[in-house]
Order: sequence, then structure tokens, then C-alpha cells
Amino acid sequence: MAVKFQGKYLNGFVKPEEFDYVSREVELCHDILHQKSGAGSDFLGWLNLPFDYDKEEFARIKKAAEKIRNDSEVLVVIGIGGSYLGARAAIEFLGSPFYNNLDSNKLKVYFVGNNISGAYLNQVLALCKDKEVSVNVISKSGTTTESAIAFRVFKEFMEEKYGKEGAKERIYATTDKARGTLKNLSTAEGYETFVIPDDVGGRFSVLTAVGLLPIAAAGFDIDKLMLGAQQACTDFAQPDNDCYKYAAARNILYRKGKVTEIMACYEPNWQMMNEWYKQLYGESEGKDQKGIFPASVIFSTDLHSMGQFIQDGNRNLFETVVAFNKPCDDYYVKADENNFDGLNFLADQPMSEINKKAMQGTILAHVSGGVPNILLEADAMDEENLGYIIYFFEKACAISGYMLGVNPFNQPGVEDYKVNMFALLGKPGYEEHREELLKKLGE
Ligand code: PA5
Repeated sequence: MAVKFQGKYLNGFVKPEEFDYVSREVELCHDILHQKSGAGSDFLGWLNLPFDYDKEEFARIKKAAEKIRNDSEVLVVIGIGGSYLGARAAIEFLGSPFYNNLDSNKLKVYFVGNNISGAYLNQVLALCKDKEVSVNVISKSGTTTESAIAFRVFKEFMEEKYGKEGAKERIYATTDKARGTLKNLSTAEGYETFVIPDDVGGRFSVLTAVGLLPIAAAGFDIDKLMLGAQQACTDFAQPDNDCYKYAAARNILYRKGKVTEIMACYEPNWQMMNEWYKQLYGESEGKDQKGIFPASVIFSTDLHSMGQFIQDGNRNLFETVVAFNKPCDDYYVKADENNFDGLNFLADQPMSEINKKAMQGTILAHVSGGVPNILLEADAMDEENLGYIIYFFEKACAISGYMLGVNPFNQPGVEDYKVNMFALLGKPGYEEHREELLKKLGE
């Protein structure tokens, strides 16, 4: 189990000594992080989480997941941002993008409360109508509009379907340990609750109950997930490691004007991991008019949409390619007697080999086109490796954010749209702001 940093495709863009020049900086960021003396140090609960987590709660999560798998056909997970992306990313990475209809015996997991679309909500309600359902509502604050609306809808749905008593046996709330609307409601209604620790921010919370309950309910082994994270935690306990090389490389490239990072993977199961990465890095680094813009692609799919830009467009980008040594599954191309499509040169080759050649060919083409490539090599697409990968990206994000000179653990910018939305929706207390906005909108 490992994530290996390969810097060979940075040749011509970054000199080896440039890593030496920033090594003191990396060490300083490591010390600040581990001594908890930097900005945002109240939110470092994720740092030792792979070892230092609530074992009693962990056992309760496994028990609840087992109950959900026994009494439900569908689990509706309500949450947004950090209370959504990690669980979905892990489930699709370990299962498949078709996890909702691959195996008819498997629990289906639907995610709601991550948008404000009535159409989407109706589609999920229709899927749940004749099924046995459980609900996991996840919100640290308990006041997030998107998830609060969805929970209002699903609370009513569950109470109509099972009665108030029956519903409370099937609703699980993951929230603050003591405060907030959702915590108060859960206590009043008698829902089983799980805790989002005070010192773990949303985007760093996938290895808490936020991610663990949905992941375990979907049938994946959360013991192995934690084992992988433990290994990463141990591997990155000292400064000279591959995780920090990745953080250093990002910052070296950023300082040369490479302000966009494109996360690329050749496995479609990685699609939602890209979304998780974008939140983690976007919310952590994009502040004070600084930051690397996190973008993402799945190849070879997106070579047919974004390939032209990456090869030949504005040269302000670098790519980070995540590659797996072992595919989770494979397919061998067969020979055709008439070779009607001229593809017999691929006969008897596994798709994984063809995919690998596509990757190598693409990296070389993009490097020739002026795009530095970082290659991160991981082993297999399983729980242990996923735990390792999650921790790798979290820790690299913290180091990278400190190198950039920002507080990687706050997100002051996400409030502005909410204030405008509440004002425009006529929420009490926002009257004056509403008038200003209506003038701007010309209404
Ligand atoms: O990373 C974050 O802090 C955010 O993305 C939150 O997770 C998101 O806004 C949801 O917040 P809450 O869990 O309070 O509903």
C-alpha cells in the first residue's frame, strides 16, 4: 500500500534542486502542523484521526450499517459539501458508478440535499416509493439550506410510510455532538446519532461517521479503510515523504504561473474522487486572492472534450495523474476472424494494458505540449488503498495550503452567496440587504 510520487515528467519544468530550495519551507509547514501552531489549528482533528477515533462509536456505526443492510433496500444520504462528497466518492470508487443498479441484492444508496432541484428530489422520492428505506441525514451545523430542505421532505416521507415510531428507527443523524438544530431535533425525536467532531472540518471528515456510516452501509470494509489511513499517517509522520513532495511540486509549479491543477485518472470509478479532491483543495487554498484552481478529468473520456485545451491551450496548467498498478477488474480483447475493424493488433490484450498505453502516450504528448505532469502511483482500488489515498491528499493539502500562505482550514468565502440567497428568498432579518439586491437585479 502506497502512493508513490513520480517527478520524472516534471523534467524541463522543475529542476531537482528546486525541491531542495523549498525543503526548509516544507519542514517548517510540517512543524507548524504537528505542533498545532499554525492558522486554523482548532481544526486538526483529522491529523491523528486514523488512530485517535471513538472506537465505541465506530462499533455502533458498523452495527447501524448492518441493521440498514438487513432492513432496507435503499439508504438515502442527505448532506452537501463535506457532508456528502467523501461518502459518495468512496462508495463509487470501491463499487462502481452504477452502484445503484449493478447488483439487485445490494443496498442502493441515493444522495440528496446536495442541490436545490425539485426535479432531482422527485426522482429520488419516486425511486424510494415502493422500497424499504433508511435515511442518514448529515449536517454539522444542522442549518444548511440544501440538506435541511431535503430532510424536511424525507422526514415527512418516512413518517407517512412507517409512522412516527417506525421512522425514528430508520433515521440516523450525523451531526454536532451537543449543539444545533439537527442535534436538538434528533434528541427530541429519538434518532440514533453519530458525531462530527468539533475539530474536524467538513472537507476533512470522510473518515468520521460522515463517511463511515454510508460507506459501511454500502457494504465496504471500514476497518480496512482505517488501516490504510493509519499506514499513511505513519508514512507521513516525518517530513521527507512522497505526500510532501506532491505538496512541494504543486507550489513550485504555482510560483511559475501554473495556476490550474488538473487531476486526471484513467478509471471512471475515480470520477467522484475528483469532486472530493476539488472541494478539499478548492475550499482549503482558494482564498486571499491566491490558490491553485482545482480542475479534473477522467481519461480517456475527456481526451475527447478537454484534450485539445490541455495539449494546446493556455499554458497555465499542470496535471496530476493518479494511476493504479492493479485494475479492480479487466477485460481481454478478442480476435475477430475477419478483423473487420482492423483491431486484431489488440487481440488477447487486457484493457488495462491498452489503458496504460493511452496514459503513457497522453502524458508524453501533454509534456511535449508544455504541461508539467505529476504522476501519483497507487496500488489497488480497494478499501486499504483508499484510506491511504484519502489521508495522502488531506495531508498534502494542509502542507500545500501552509506553503501557499493561507489558512487551509477555514472557508469564509462560502457565506456570501448564502446571505444573498436568504435575502432574495425573504428570510426574516435580511430585509435591507434584499432591497439592495433587488435594485441591482433591476426588479
Ligand atoms: O467543508 C465544509 O465545511 C462544507 O462543505 C460543509 O461540509 C457543507 O457546507 C455542509 O455543512 P453542514 O455539515 O454544516 O451541513
